[in-house]
Amino acid sequence: MAERASISSRSLLRMKQRGEKIVCVTAYDASFAVQLEEAGVEVLLVGDSLGMVIQGHESTLPVRLTDMIYHAACVARVGKSALRIVDMPFMSYASVGQALENAARLMSEGGAHMVKLEGGRVIAEVVQALTERGIPVCAHLGLTPQSVHQLGGYRMQGRDDETANRMQEDAVLLEQAGASVLVLECIPVDLGRRISAQLHIPTIGIGAGPDCDGQVLVLYDLLGITPGRKPRFSHDFLQHAADVPEALRAFVRDVKEERFPDAEHSFS
Ligand code: KIV
Repeated sequence: MAERASISSRSLLRMKQRGEKIVCVTAYDASFAVQLEEAGVEVLLVGDSLGMVIQGHESTLPVRLTDMIYHAACVARVGKSALRIVDMPFMSYASVGQALENAARLMSEGGAHMVKLEGGRVIAEVVQALTERGIPVCAHLGLTPQSVHQLGGYRMQGRDDETANRMQEDAVLLEQAGASVLVLECIPVDLGRRISAQLHIPTIGIGAGPDCDGQVLVLYDLLGITPGRKPRFSHDFLQHAADVPEALRAFVRDVKEERFPDAEHSFS
């Protein structure tokens, strides 16, 4: 593979400006991180979904900061050019002081380039404090798995005008607070399109329709090996591929060529 320049938040911004889709996949270990980079994935997300797909928990809530540091460091050790975003686990950013201390550990011990936080306007103050101190932030709206018990399950968000408008306002407030990227999870196609068009920063969707500036999938969903019920928005790319590298390349190609997600993997 030809050497690629390192991807930064500025690169992602330029990709949005020229209409090139951003490809992101979750990564939790060194072997898959190498395969993902070789397939052309630009952003590796060390997601707290590892609590479910690696650790076997029912939700992401039991994941600890030390788990995130461990998996982020496994990925960072072999990292080449991809941007590494690392999730801040449940309640590790409940106050500004806690967020600064824990984000610093994810960067210095886990090799994160950017940290990801779930929530709307309530985390704007934390986002501002982190970015003012040089810690890039990816925000996450829509289905925010750390709030699963408050949301009443893993279900689509922003269905009605009131919640959709509030989410759109939250997105603007998070951008104003300094967020560099916004993940949108499990929302109607129209809302994904509206938010992506309004923001200057790139959006990365998962079940948020084809008009987001990029797409992310959980690696094990993409390979069809997640146990139990599969989310409707995910797709098994290994099904029609000869091996894992071919499946990863198929995902990259389908996102870049705007073939994924199609209507079957989106919500209207
Ligand atoms: O933890 C994770 O893998 C995530 C993605 C679902 C976006 O947050």
